[in-house]
Amino acid sequence: MSLAHAAEAPSRSHLEPFRTRRTFAIISHPDAGKTTLTERLLSAAGAIQQAGAVRGKAGQRSTRSDWMEMEQQRGISISSSVMTFEFDGLTMNLLDTPGHSDFSEDTYRTLTAVDAAIMVIDAAKGIESQTLKLFEVCRLRDIPIITFINKVDREGLAPLDLIDEIQGKLALDLTPVLWPIGQGVDFGGYIDLLEKRVVTPQGKTLAEFEAIDDLLDVESLVDNPVFMTALETLELARAMLPAFDLKVFHEGHMSPVLFGSALKGIGVAELLRTLGDWGPEPRPQPALPAPIAPDEKKVSGFVFKVQANMDANHRDRIAFVRLCSGTFTRGMRLKNVRSGKDMAVANPMFFFGNNRELAEEAVAGDIVGIPNHGTLSVGDTLTEGATINVTGIPNFAPEIIRRVRLTDAMKTKQMSKALSDLAEEGVTQVFRRMVGADWIVGVVGQLQLEVLASRVAKEYGVPITFEPMGFEVARWVESDDPDELKRFIAAQKTNMAEDRANAPVFLAQNAWWADRAKQDWPKIRFLTTKERH
Ligand code: G4P
Repeated sequence: MSLAHAAEAPSRSHLEPFRTRRTFAIISHPDAGKTTLTERLLSAAGAIQQAGAVRGKAGQRSTRSDWMEMEQQRGISISSSVMTFEFDGLTMNLLDTPGHSDFSEDTYRTLTAVDAAIMVIDAAKGIESQTLKLFEVCRLRDIPIITFINKVDREGLAPLDLIDEIQGKLALDLTPVLWPIGQGVDFGGYIDLLEKRVVTPQGKTLAEFEAIDDLLDVESLVDNPVFMTALETLELARAMLPAFDLKVFHEGHMSPVLFGSALKGIGVAELLRTLGDWGPEPRPQPALPAPIAPDEKKVSGFVFKVQANMDANHRDRIAFVRLCSGTFTRGMRLKNVRSGKDMAVANPMFFFGNNRELAEEAVAGDIVGIPNHGTLSVGDTLTEGATINVTGIPNFAPEIIRRVRLTDAMKTKQMSKALSDLAEEGVTQVFRRMVGADWIVGVVGQLQLEVLASRVAKEYGVPITFEPMGFEVARWVESDDPDELKRFIAAQKTNMAEDRANAPVFLAQNAWWADRAKQDWPKIRFLTTKERH
């Protein structure tokens, strides 16, 4: 496929609506520039008046995920939400993922709802730990990835070294789309292989070309040693790397790479165009009994995120639903396959820039917010009546296990409500011990505990603290032999708990004990993840 496609970008008005959806997330290590890039993408698409609005003005809440006080105090992004904007005849749905590793569960679930990801890498740092983890999640589902190497306006690693590192660490083929001319103080623009032109940092076109070699005839360029070095390395990269192949990109095995600067707005419009032109469109959703194709007529979707109290003035609770097929219209009745109950969806919402709007119609790929009072949980599948279960939305075995201590014994009821609500939202996991009446919470990161305590106190008026209980490892247990499972549970009674769905969970003092149990009970499977339904 030719790289020169953007200039003659086709009109998209004849396409079925779902084919104009691009639903994606940005994955990165904290500080790589995700927030800055998000702002720039929105402003490049004209969705916000000026870059900076995403963060919200002082004292004013924005729809972005900095609605929570703790999040604002700490300057981290905790919760996932969605930003929808129009670009070039397309509807872009950008799902925000928290960068902090303590909230990786949320991020993993959000990634089940996207069709593509933009991987932002700091040019000075290369692949960092969180990027690697998130990439691995994308790989599980073969999500196509576009690589944006950020901060070329600063000194960084050489482009070829970066490419080498990414290919080596991720086992992913890269193919250049935007190539930098120098870096740091030498940065002098870029070579745009999409539109076949050489551009200054200010966006001025210096030269156009058919074949890259044509640039050797442009005097003003060949006299510039920084440009000549860039051209040589680009030629080397092209000789070394495979040519772009749309199919391989869609299969998740090849990533177009753009060098740019989110802060300076360089490469951002090209990034949008790459995503717009090369897609992918909404992909089939893994489900049982069969995957859901986006062009199926009947409506289906699933909840990947529940967020309570987004707006302090309205104690609301919103389930974020990714539509997988059909054309949803406002007022439609949908069945929650888990509970078997029907619901009329009267006030579905879209999230544009800083505004929410009533969603009159939505198609596969769209994200709709459904206000509800606890009827919808993460992992729920919604259909027009069919019994279909979307799969692959995991719970992760907690790494921190704590007994909940209530400081006001009169508030047991409120506490159990608070914990169940927040467990439904995915903020924490809640377990009950099989022996005794302890409430146990399990989280993946310490910060989650702090968020939990703060929200339970603030939103439910119940002060709680946590205490260690001597367990460090939790594993769901199952077996093909039900009697063996019963024997295991009986033998380990004091180490057993149940999750919210009454599935048995084995708690071990440490990894050594967990390992020992595994060896002693070969017919039992010890699981670190469990599907949510
Ligand atoms: P994150 O959401 O991935 O955590 O990163 P964020 O966008 O907050 O960016 C982290 C820091 O990197 C910010 O600086 C931001 O200004 C800077 N940055 C982002 N993109 C670029 C770029 O293209 N070039 C350069 N030189 N810097 C970039 P900060 O000083 O930590 O924050 P701030 O006070 O500027 O907001």
